[in-house]
Amino acid sequence: MDLRRWDERYRSQSEIGPPTPLVTEIAGGLKSGKALDLACGAGRNTLWLAEHGWKVTAVDGSRAAIGLLTARNPEIDARVANLEKHEYTIEPNSWDLIAICYYLQRDLFEQAKRGVMPGGVIIAIVHIPGPGEGLTPFRLAPGELAAYFRDFEVLHSYEGPPRDPVHHNRVAQIAARRPAE
Ligand SMILES: C[S@@+](CC[C@H](N)C(=O)[O-])C[C@H]1O[C@@H](n2cnc3c(N)ncnc32)[C@H](O)[C@@H]1O
Repeated sequence: MDLRRWDERYRSQSEIGPPTPLVTEIAGGLKSGKALDLACGAGRNTLWLAEHGWKVTAVDGSRAAIGLLTARNPEIDARVANLEKHEYTIEPNSWDLIAICYYLQRDLFEQAKRGVMPGGVIIAIVHIPGPGEGLTPFRLAPGELAAYFRDFEVLHSYEGPPRDPVHHNRVAQIAARRPAE
């Protein structure tokens, strides 16, 4: 879906749903620090992280989504940026946590891996095909997400139905830590 359509969707939305369980489970077990939420949407995960002591920067290409987020919490460092066009630069060695939830942009994984500090954690969730379904630009192949993180310490890896009330299609999930140097 292009950003114009995301904007339309967020303009007709007023509620911000609950955070995705993987974020609360993984981040809830970490010492809070600096977090980057990429393609944050209206910020359901950003808001939870901020409420739990994280200093969060949130990035999304939809101005309407960022508007919903900042209306709820004006203190958040929230940016409108098209990630495909590299309008936001992930500074290397800068983040304790990077979340990429329900957004697929393959080249973002390597950028995020460089962006976390040694010991920092990446949480990623993407759709994968269900039984009888094929690949689309919005789905990774089974096994592909885990393969991006072979050189990280895997804290959690899962493929199957989501445990997220907002989503129904199959997902790949990963939480992985950059090895300490
Ligand atoms: C399915 S939503 C996920 C939102 C959030 N991560 C969550 O889990 O609730 C996908 C998000 O990606 C954003 N998005 C799509 N293309 C983008 C792009 N090129 N650059 C930045 N954000 C983009 C959309 O605006 C939308 O908010």
